[in-house]
Amino acid sequence: MKVSVQGKPLLDVLSGRKPERRPIWFMRQAGRYLPEYRKLREQAGSFLELCYRPELAAEVTLQPLRRYDLDAAIVFADILVIPHAMGLELHFEEGEGPILETVRSREDMRKLKPSGNSHQIKAVYESLGRVSSKLGQAIALIGFCGGPWTVASYMIEGGSSNRKLSKAAAARGETWFRHLIDRLVEESVEYLSGQVEAGADAVQIFDSWAGDLPETGRKEFVEKPLAAVVKGFRARQPDIPVIVFARGVGHGHSVIEKATGAQGISIESELSMQWARDRLKGTIQGNLDPEILLGPEDGARQAAEALVATMPMERHIFNLGHGIRPATNPEMLNAVIETVRRHDMSKMAG
Ligand code: CP3
Repeated sequence: MKVSVQGKPLLDVLSGRKPERRPIWFMRQAGRYLPEYRKLREQAGSFLELCYRPELAAEVTLQPLRRYDLDAAIVFADILVIPHAMGLELHFEEGEGPILETVRSREDMRKLKPSGNSHQIKAVYESLGRVSSKLGQAIALIGFCGGPWTVASYMIEGGSSNRKLSKAAAARGETWFRHLIDRLVEESVEYLSGQVEAGADAVQIFDSWAGDLPETGRKEFVEKPLAAVVKGFRARQPDIPVIVFARGVGHGHSVIEKATGAQGISIESELSMQWARDRLKGTIQGNLDPEILLGPEDGARQAAEALVATMPMERHIFNLGHGIRPATNPEMLNAVIETVRRHDMSKMAG
């Protein structure tokens, strides 16, 4: 088992220790905005091929670390690896996003296999092992999965959507839907725990569509499943910190924090960082607007400056409020990182 060693700023803030510097990483830091990523993806032939060839996935994971002064790597994979590993067909169409075989009934539930022994899951574990052996001492390695609600919504809809069928299944409290959520809780616990055994030293749960449901639905199908994943994971990996990204729940993040007991809460750009600082108890990750990285550099620098001025370094993981857009100029990240580092240095000197 891996123990969390002091000296990785990301793990330090998540454990309530004073970090040597403010940890920085970016959601989707490996991806299409980087020319070196596009080149490797072309060589691999497809996004999924890239995910399942550990030597390539490890290389893509490390690409942003070579370019930028970051404090974490996130393993290159996708939240749809679990449904794929459960036996559903999956393709990524150029410019269209994922196309996934659907699950919409009790009969469909029977086709789902346990994901644990699949080649897909094993490939992700192998990527983690390779990255872990190559990372600098102070850099944390993050493993991840999707939140049960978000992953279920892709399985029900068959791809990106407005989640209409999923919301209807939740509103009716369909039995097969409840079973699907429960299955995803189990698979996620197993998968996150396996990622730690393979080398991850923190994990993040991406519940991108957590803001979809009205109050009772949110409690039942977002909060409770997230809490169950964290609880199950913690029973297996008590020393590994968890970050929960329940995107779009707004003030509901304080309920999510209480219900899950996660050490880190990742917040969307729409929420005020000041509100989060004053109302949440633990470490907050976020929440620079990824859109601002598409505009002029001074705008991005000013927004980054305002963000770090609001948030004390001891409780903050600098990140975006959602993933980097593919059209982002890679140089913008250097400008933002430099702004954050400079702010913190002047604070320490003063
Ligand atoms: O660098 C990282 O952050 C790690 C890798 C990562 C990917 N997807 C790679 C990826 C992570 C953490 C994810 C999470 C993910 N995947 C989420 C949750 C976060 C979010 O963005 O809301 C979701 C909903 C997915 C599902 C998914 N994967 C969609 C809807 C798409 C198509 C849209 C798009 O951005 O292309 C993907 C594809 C995907 N996943 C790409 C990458 C780098 C682009 C694939 C390509 O190269 O064309």
